[in-house]
Amino acid sequence: MSTQPSKTKKITINTLREMKAAKEKITCLTAYDVSFAQLLDDAGVDVVLVGDSLGMVIQGFDSTIPVTMDEMIYHGQVVSRGLKRAFLILDMPFMSDATTQQAVENAGRFMKECGANMVKLEGGADQKELVETLTRLGIPVCAHLGLQPQRVHKLGGYKVQGRDLSEADKMLEDARILERAGADLLLLECVPDALSKKLTDQAGIPVIGIGAGNKTDGQILVLYDILGISSGHIPKFSKNYMQQAGSIQQAVEQYIEEVKSERFPGKEHTFN
Ligand code: KIV
Repeated sequence: MSTQPSKTKKITINTLREMKAAKEKITCLTAYDVSFAQLLDDAGVDVVLVGDSLGMVIQGFDSTIPVTMDEMIYHGQVVSRGLKRAFLILDMPFMSDATTQQAVENAGRFMKECGANMVKLEGGADQKELVETLTRLGIPVCAHLGLQPQRVHKLGGYKVQGRDLSEADKMLEDARILERAGADLLLLECVPDALSKKLTDQAGIPVIGIGAGNKTDGQILVLYDILGISSGHIPKFSKNYMQQAGSIQQAVEQYIEEVKSERFPGKEHTFN
């Protein structure tokens, strides 16, 4: 019997767990509007993230920090209208989780006003209580470790995380704590290949990577990067699929195919 998820049945948190167990790679892309959301859904992308990367690729800021809750709600609502099958995750923007009360209200808005299936939160063990609270309230959480763009000023730039032993040990411990607190998914950004393999092996929940090598349970990229329409610096871990495709649809299908067959990411997209 095929382990491939159905091309029409709605993807749920259970589908993602089953895919991890079956070693079927999970394909994810960002989207910010209904037309692209429909295109990704029709192409068979498993997870669509309305990322706060919209601050950079849609709004032209040089970081994700200025993005507001109301802007995320607007983009969440329009993307949601385009999806039938894909699992929808919305990013909690900078400061929307500054207190537990704010975070609960804001995550609740994503679920009620946008039809989100999950919210994504940057931060390590410091988010433990918040993850427990959201879990108790029935709000699924994707934890985001490694490079956390909302903390770019604390990190001193967009840099690979977890290269030294103490940082790597802390990330492994953060991941354990967040999973015990109830996180249902883990996203790793800019993490060396070997560490990301350890994190994926130890996790009972699916792990999605961006710049985290090809051992994670799934991959995510920023849609505009794979379409070659992001301006400025294109990260090493991304790939412009328009270079070999005749249409946007073909580019997305090629990305899906390469992730599923583990041809993406290659060594040239991976950090050691
Ligand atoms: O905001 C975003 O698009 C993200 C991805 C880069 C994972 O968090």
